[in-house]
Amino acid sequence: MNNVSIRTLSECKNKGEKFSVLTAYDATFSQLVSSAGIEVILVGDSLGMVCQGKDSTLPVTMAEMEYHTRCVAQGNEGSLIMADMPFMSYSTLEQGQANAALLMQAGANMVKVEGDDWLVPLVECLARQGVPVCAHLGLTPQAVNKLGGYRVQGRDDAKAHAMIEHSKALAEAGADCILLECVPSSLGKAITAAVDVPVIGIGAGSDTDAQVLVVYDMLGLNAGHIPKFVKNFMIDGRTPQQAIAAYGEEVKAGKFPSSEHEFS
Ligand code: KIV
Ligand code: NA
Repeated sequence: MNNVSIRTLSECKNKGEKFSVLTAYDATFSQLVSSAGIEVILVGDSLGMVCQGKDSTLPVTMAEMEYHTRCVAQGNEGSLIMADMPFMSYSTLEQGQANAALLMQAGANMVKVEGDDWLVPLVECLARQGVPVCAHLGLTPQAVNKLGGYRVQGRDDAKAHAMIEHSKALAEAGADCILLECVPSSLGKAITAAVDVPVIGIGAGSDTDAQVLVVYDMLGLNAGHIPKFVKNFMIDGRTPQQAIAAYGEEVKAGKFPSSEHEFS
């Protein structure tokens, strides 16, 4: 795979070709995921749960995100590396800029922030300075305490309409992609049609431009609660390499996700 850039991703959207995203937190998984041709590696703050065993992403620090981003950059073979800005690391413009710089210097090619249109000034500021940004809307796990749990978002018309408007505002501000977590498929479809930038979904239906999963979930390594949007690709005697490649192929072919992984 040639080095993936934000141009590659927008070309995929323009051509109607889907792309795939998986998390990785270390060099071994980074190498596995990138060599399987997965376009984007997400160094997710989900590492707080899957690497550290915490019950949310809130305890994850900037130092930890930098460390895991450096590990992933070391193993990467051409995927675009997106790194999460952790909880409260972008509360002010100054903080957001300084912390985005640290992740980019650790090897990220793009940073991801959770929120809605309150992120517009930060997105504009980072875009001006050459930092690609993904805006994460819908179920934003850093806000789990305010949301009252890990629940599907945008179920009522007013909230769905607001999420469409916020996504448009963020794309206009310079966000290079939108990530939607746990929203009804109809809303995933509407936002994907409303913005020119690629939309990555997780529990957002099959009409988004791309899909993301936590790599341990799709390898069947999750012993706890298995969310509805997860599919285990570690079947039919596949190796991890083959399971990751099968995920990429099913996303590209529009076979994953199917209706059993969606919220209506
Ligand atoms: O941290 C993460 O893994 C994420 C994805 C679930 C989208 O943000
Ligand atoms: Na995250």
